[in-house]
Amino acid sequence: MSLPWTEKYKPLGISEVVGNEKALSELVGFLRSWRRDASKKALLLYGSPGNGKTVSVYAAARDLGFEIVEVNASDKRNLEMIQRTIGSAATMSSLFPVKGKVLLIDEVDGLSGTEDRGGVGAIISVIKSSEHPIVLTANNPWDPKFSSLRQYCEMVSFDKIRAPTVRKVLRRICDREGIRVDDSVLEALATNAEGDLRAAINDLQALSQNKTELTMEDVVLYSRDKIRSIFEVLGKMFGGSEARLIVDDVSSTDVDYELMIHWINENIPQHMSDAKELSDAYDMISRADVFLGRIKNRQHWGLLSYVFELMSAGVSLSRTVTKPHFVKYQFPSWIRNLSKTRVTRSKLSSIGTKIGNKCHTSSSGGVEHYLPYLEIIFQADPKRAAKISKFFELEDELIEKIAGDKKTHNKITKELKKE
Ligand SMILES: Nc1ncnc2c1ncn2[C@@H]1O[C@H](COP(=O)(O)OP(=O)(O)OP(=O)(O)O)[C@@H](O)[C@H]1O
Ligand SMILES: [Mg+2]
Repeated sequence: MSLPWTEKYKPLGISEVVGNEKALSELVGFLRSWRRDASKKALLLYGSPGNGKTVSVYAAARDLGFEIVEVNASDKRNLEMIQRTIGSAATMSSLFPVKGKVLLIDEVDGLSGTEDRGGVGAIISVIKSSEHPIVLTANNPWDPKFSSLRQYCEMVSFDKIRAPTVRKVLRRICDREGIRVDDSVLEALATNAEGDLRAAINDLQALSQNKTELTMEDVVLYSRDKIRSIFEVLGKMFGGSEARLIVDDVSSTDVDYELMIHWINENIPQHMSDAKELSDAYDMISRADVFLGRIKNRQHWGLLSYVFELMSAGVSLSRTVTKPHFVKYQFPSWIRNLSKTRVTRSKLSSIGTKIGNKCHTSSSGGVEHYLPYLEIIFQADPKRAAKISKFFELEDELIEKIAGDKKTHNKITKELKKE
């Protein structure tokens, strides 16, 4: 087995970490100027997965010559252990005056469930008595169980890594691995990763096995493999008869649960035909969706298990009459539609951005609040439409989109030439 590329190309110093410049300088500043009597003795780095939180702590420590004592909060799940591990390291300096230690409490969100009761309290007491700077990381620090902990921490947000940045990192890796690859491939991987650089690098490595050249075709085949795993889960789920096993199957995949809901929703009618079954199944999936909305609005991640139960066992066990049978799975139609409407959406978003630039609103605000009026004006008054196009610096294809039809577009173009 070769080394995972996320390890092989891991940044060693802060200068090699990409993105999040402000957060990185806060991290370095915090470590550099840490004092026992500081009002906030700990720093909490938070943000979505794979954007460099953990690796930045190591890189910063290395740059500054600090030694890291790491406690993975999800490994050692109880009070005594945390106190034994960080507690002792925290007061170690009185015994062994080692200069420059950092305590890293990684993945604090791992502290969940009843066995961890007191875990948060233990961390707080360690922070209070620590002789060393403490850095914590978390994906979602907004869970109410962390509210007291947050008060002891300086909060630093790590944003998703932007797609062009991800692409650059991938390009560099390909160069060093001697892989020829088209920009479009890297763009697809970067977009697909949604800000998770680790996922992008892992995808690239999985795709590149035994290859010296990567094409768009490789990407398509690879994503098809992922889809095959969705089919497997759907098969098990709709064929299952025991609630717990069904829930386990669905929650054990690495398929995103929001995407999974769409797949399940789309495929209910393939599995059931009886009206009562269908009504029950859709009722379950709509309840799952309501929970999901509440979770997102209020950050109540503890409710996620209900979503899983409703969308999997809830839906599957609604089948009481129809016998299990072979099913040809349907791709969720909204995904199909999304790819069909990709060009339109990208034009709309360009128009929104142009409007936003001049009117100081977001791209979606531009589309929502201005575009409908522009469409009316463009239809009614080509002369004014030309002026407006000039003002917003709209390119021809965007003008055409707003105009809606060829004739109107031609009139506006004529007026524009006179401008
Ligand atoms: N900003 C970055 N710059 C360079 N490499 C990165 C960056 N973010 C992630 N990576 C790559 O991804 C790997 C994983 O990053 P890291 O462990 O720091 O993610 P994380 O933010 O701690 O994720 P999680 O929230 O899941 O713990 C790194 O070893 C590195 O190879
Ligand atoms: Mg991490």
